[in-house]
Amino acid sequence: MIREQVSLKPYNTFGIDVKAAAFASFDSVDTLKALLNENNQQLPLMFLGGGSNVLFTKDVDALVLRNEIKGIQIVSETNETVHVEVGSGEEWHAFVRYTVEKGWGGIENMSLIPGSVGASPMQNIGAYGAEIKDCFVSLKAYHIESGEIHEFDAAQCHFGYRESVFKRELKGQYVIIAVTYRLTKHPQFNTAYGAIQSEIEAMGVETLSVEAISQAVMNIRRSKLPDPKVLGNAGSFFKNPVVSEEIGNQLIAQFPDAPVYPQANGMVKLAAGWLIEKAGLKGYRRGNCGVHEKQALVLVNHGGATGSEIYALSQHVLDSVEAKFGVLLEREVNIY
Ligand code: EPU
Repeated sequence: MIREQVSLKPYNTFGIDVKAAAFASFDSVDTLKALLNENNQQLPLMFLGGGSNVLFTKDVDALVLRNEIKGIQIVSETNETVHVEVGSGEEWHAFVRYTVEKGWGGIENMSLIPGSVGASPMQNIGAYGAEIKDCFVSLKAYHIESGEIHEFDAAQCHFGYRESVFKRELKGQYVIIAVTYRLTKHPQFNTAYGAIQSEIEAMGVETLSVEAISQAVMNIRRSKLPDPKVLGNAGSFFKNPVVSEEIGNQLIAQFPDAPVYPQANGMVKLAAGWLIEKAGLKGYRRGNCGVHEKQALVLVNHGGATGSEIYALSQHVLDSVEAKFGVLLEREVNIY
């Protein structure tokens, strides 16, 4: 059922109160088709999953369609691996916990990332040394123009750092319906990311397990990242910038403690949170919004902020970092 003039406040983790011209949710491809027929191309479309990576700066003059396609099913299994197909409207963290409780490895480092399963390949989500592309098998997507379901393997998704073909070349053309992941029954634990190792030690864990890693990641995230239910936010607002080796070396020469991560292609990734902190903005507050006091990469709504206010703050952050370091940050959150 399509409703008109609906507040999107409950549907975005920044908690921004804008109105959608029309709104409906769908829990199957058939419901989606019926809604598209009902709309009959009168309004442009906007698809929303968990709403955890979007900043609304104005009312949305579109039919907003919220994906609630559910379901988790094992599609194949050997002694070593399990392939699980998951409805794109499932909550990501709930799926992670399902796999951890089974003892299957692959996505435990990505515990507590907000958002839906459908968003995971869309922007190749990642955390603590793991990325979705490494356990991705395939996905099914609804092609809006033809009404056909198309299948994509990993190569066809063109995964990059927080990137995929669905954010670039095929933007707006497909709705992700289901994603299949490969999980392992004899996990290789990934604790290389410094904070995990020290948290595991602090927890007094003697035998590593996917459960222990998941708990460690949850502890770290809860200590640094604000809970959207308490303080509106959309996770990292900016991407970590990837710059030339030369610029990386210049930064190190000037600031020997700057974190730099050499990439396979010779470029170096810088920590945007560090740059923002060193630009003096960690914990900075302006009006109803601010830079999170424990992780400068996250912008927060202290209550009642408008999207434009947060956008203006993000511009101030961009300008300050550019002025101090000559590095231009890029927003990770989708701006509407
Ligand atoms: N740092 C600071 N000050 C800050 C924040 C970070 O100095 O305010 C430094 C840290 O001390 C560390 C480095 O910057 O040396 C990296 O920080 P952290 O490990 O917290 O990770 P991040 O690079 O800031 C990325 C992801 C997060 C993910 C974490 C952990 C991006 C844009 N962000 O953050 O993902 O949880 O790594 O793997 O890549 C998200 O995408 O929404 C997200 C939260």
